[in-house]
Amino acid sequence: DVVRNWRPSNFPPGPWAVPFLGNIFTGVDFKTMQKLAREYGPVFSLRRGSQRMVFVSGYKMVKEALVNQLDSFVERPELPLFHVIYKGLGIALSNGYLWRKQRKFANTHLRYFGEGQKTLERYIQVESNFLCEAFKEEQGRPFDPHYILTNAVSNVISSVLFGHRFEYSDSTFRKVLELDNEAIVLAGFAQTQLYDAFPGLMKYLPGPHRTVHTNYTEILNFLKKEIEKHQEEWNPEDPRDYIDVYLSEIEKKKEDPQAGFNVDTLLICTIDLIEAGTETSATTLRWGLIFMIYYPDIQEKAQAEIDRVIGQARQPTLADRPNLPYTEAVIHEIQRMGNIVPLGFPKMASKDTTLGGYLIPKGTATTTILASVLFDKNEWETPDTFNPAHFLDSMGQFRRRDAFLPFSAGKRMCLGEQLARMELFLFLSSLLQRFTFCPVPGEMPSLEGVLGFTHSPQDFRLLAVPR
Ligand code: HEM
Repeated sequence: DVVRNWRPSNFPPGPWAVPFLGNIFTGVDFKTMQKLAREYGPVFSLRRGSQRMVFVSGYKMVKEALVNQLDSFVERPELPLFHVIYKGLGIALSNGYLWRKQRKFANTHLRYFGEGQKTLERYIQVESNFLCEAFKEEQGRPFDPHYILTNAVSNVISSVLFGHRFEYSDSTFRKVLELDNEAIVLAGFAQTQLYDAFPGLMKYLPGPHRTVHTNYTEILNFLKKEIEKHQEEWNPEDPRDYIDVYLSEIEKKKEDPQAGFNVDTLLICTIDLIEAGTETSATTLRWGLIFMIYYPDIQEKAQAEIDRVIGQARQPTLADRPNLPYTEAVIHEIQRMGNIVPLGFPKMASKDTTLGGYLIPKGTATTTILASVLFDKNEWETPDTFNPAHFLDSMGQFRRRDAFLPFSAGKRMCLGEQLARMELFLFLSSLLQRFTFCPVPGEMPSLEGVLGFTHSPQDFRLLAVPR
């Protein structure tokens, strides 16, 4: 225990830790983190079991860690809870050469099935139509938009990966989305995170980590079937989608096994893209509708801009984006206040690193707290208030903000940022073009989110009144 409580010299400070157990009673959520940052400064530490974790808070220090020290935090720590499923493969939780090769392939081919051929834009427009039709079918009655939105968002990445979308009435796919949502919420709970501190022990105990593991196993089985179907139908002369192209890459990279192009990695890349690409964007859209309900004046102003620039006769396109500065500002503010990934994804120091005057030894798990950037009092005029003016200049033109980092920054930053921004713009502008969102009388949704791995709204119902 003496050894376990020993702190390397000049290690970031933190609260007193119980011998052996460490700070297991300190919740790893962004509100607790904000309190600790006030007490210990922008770089502080906690300990769980024998694992030390460093936390980085505030725009200045997060930028220092991710951008100025570009090569310091490019690796993911091994997370026992996820390692059972991911085994170090794929994109989001892999490291080193395999990560570089898989990330590069994904970057190239998300683009190949996208910008060049304008297919991504078309997929999203087609899906926006289905989404608006589904909302219309509710005929202005109260409904919970949760899974329609998740299904719509998921269909965009599904179209890229599998070459097809899933009907909102498809109960098998709905089940997959529910399992995924549950796993992501549970994975962020303090009780589940105990698994990462004590995997050897927790393996034998019941608890939410079990649900996380069974859910992921079921999702993988579903994805395996899609991949097997592609293997049967595969024609290298005529690649239809991402999986087809990946199957060709497996043939091409046979001489380079370290790069990891094989069916096992494909499976994990597929779950990575679906996971990373679904919950985040769908949760942002749910927050978006809640903020529109809360701020009817802002909703009306965005609608007026859309009516003026696009009108009611045609669908929004990406080419409209520069002409809709107010709507763009609203979407950015939704992402800022929605604070979807408050703690970012876990990272570790890939080498001994000095940050804020402290030493972070190679291999130390390090969390850059994105919430602390999105709400940084030194960066935002009204950090705790929904205020699209954060993103507008005095002429009403859109202005970028340095501290807008919902996608993180540096070499590990979100791979899907472009796709996500296309989705948020096309989905939200299409919805606002066709509906006004209102509270169900007596059921104002809560602005208090649920804190799992993501920060998501509590279940709510709304009225989508056709315009
Ligand atoms: C990683 C946010 C949408 C794919 C990340 C990270 C964040 C993030 C914070 C961690 C970056 C880091 O470790 O520094 C978001 C938000 C989204 C969104 C807020 C939507 C509003 C998407 C979409 C895709 C995607 C649509 C799918 C194409 C990924 C992948 C990674 C990632 C693959 C892992 C990158 C790596 O480890 O190298 N995202 N994301 N994301 N995102 Fe997104």
